[in-house]
Amino acid sequence: MNEENVAIRKFRADDYDAVMALWKASGLPFKPNGRDSREKILKEITQGIASFLVAIKGDTIIGTVLATHDGRKGWINRLAVATEFRGLGIAQRLLEEAEKTLYDRGIEIIACLIEDYNQTSMSFFQKSGYIKHTDIFYFTKRRHPGV
Ligand SMILES: CC(C)(COP(=O)(O)OP(=O)(O)OC[C@H]1O[C@@H](n2cnc3c(N)ncnc32)[C@H](O)[C@@H]1OP(=O)(O)O)[C@@H](O)C(=O)NCCC(=O)NCCS
Repeated sequence: MNEENVAIRKFRADDYDAVMALWKASGLPFKPNGRDSREKILKEITQGIASFLVAIKGDTIIGTVLATHDGRKGWINRLAVATEFRGLGIAQRLLEEAEKTLYDRGIEIIACLIEDYNQTSMSFFQKSGYIKHTDIFYFTKRRHPGV
């Protein structure tokens, strides 16, 4: 397959349903009733703190990445590539574009959270220069379940 036919562009509001379907099919843990609701995503990308990119082939969305920052640190979220397009370097391209949007905003450290079972994602990020920290635990406080 020729991945040169794959383009990367910004997420548009009418991509929402296709993106949710891709995340579901990818087995990506996401929060459709929380921070991944249509309303929350649209709000996030208009606030200037998020850069949401999609990879497309023809009219079909085959990959996503959501880069966010809080002014101090950048985060890579929701990186996913459709099963039949994996191993072609599409996630690598999405990551590089996402990192560039963060560097352009002056962010110099980028982080991501990966579930302990997700060896594929760990290999991917390690290959991309990310360091795995085994001495840090993730703590959260949620106002509502599902956020
Ligand atoms: C993780 C994921 C996004 C990788 O997408 P991809 O387009 O297949 O990745 P790429 O082709 O760009 O791979 C780049 C490098 O990552 C590593 N990599 C990718 N898939 C791998 C696998 N299954 N096993 C080991 N290493 C892998 C390789 O080093 C690869 O480089 P190489 O092909 O030169 O060896 C994809 O597997 C996916 O969508 N998984 C489900 C969703 C998910 O778990 N997302 C991450 C959440 S933290």
